[in-house]
Amino acid sequence: ASVNIPVISIDGPTASGKGTVAHRVAKQLGFHYLDSGALYRLTALSAIRQGIDLWEEQQIADLARVLPCRFEKGHVYLAGDDVTDAVREEAIGVAASKIAVLPLVRKALVELQVSFRQTPGLVADGRDMGTVIFPDAIQKVFLTASVEARANRRYKQLIEKGFPANMEDLVKDLTERDARDMARTEAPLKPAPDAFILDTSHITANEAVHQILSLYAIALRNQ
Ligand code: DC
Repeated sequence: ASVNIPVISIDGPTASGKGTVAHRVAKQLGFHYLDSGALYRLTALSAIRQGIDLWEEQQIADLARVLPCRFEKGHVYLAGDDVTDAVREEAIGVAASKIAVLPLVRKALVELQVSFRQTPGLVADGRDMGTVIFPDAIQKVFLTASVEARANRRYKQLIEKGFPANMEDLVKDLTERDARDMARTEAPLKPAPDAFILDTSHITANEAVHQILSLYAIALRNQ
């Protein structure tokens, strides 16, 4: 992957609206899109399916290094199975945040993530896109929102997809997941020093998209 290819990194906590926003920014620019959380989710799902315990660092890293995944027309495949809905399940998100603390697993996923950097550009969505994976991103964004706003969004998402959801459990889940993502020593969730911090608690996804596109246009001019 060439370092001349522009990357926009969009990091932030779970349910901050990153997925929707990053996807729309990529579409507007005709850029590729990396959903790095999906790679952690796929790794977790793969481990669970193979009956590997979630603390077996070496075994899970070995799985991650050769993850048989494919992204096609909005669908995600694992070893040929369509797992688009399965990877979005809350339990898989929780499992993903557990394996994401394992340094060997994070290392095993670096190459795959970097390989998404292709012309004409990439929008990378995750926790450590601007800090670790693409430190030379031309525009770094850190999306945040209050726990309440995020729990609300996640609730709607789950209900829409026909999954059971409960607000109280979601708030507890998000708070625990944030704590785990921020406290880990390896690539903790934190804004890059040069990231633009965008709070989406009171703005729509399209307003966030618009802001990011403006920031990117300015970054290009200042290059
Ligand atoms: O964004 P998400 O909810 O799909 O991510 C699932 C988990 O994966 C999240 O709790 C932490 C982990 N993750 C990570 O550690 N680093 C990333 N770049 C993306 C996700």
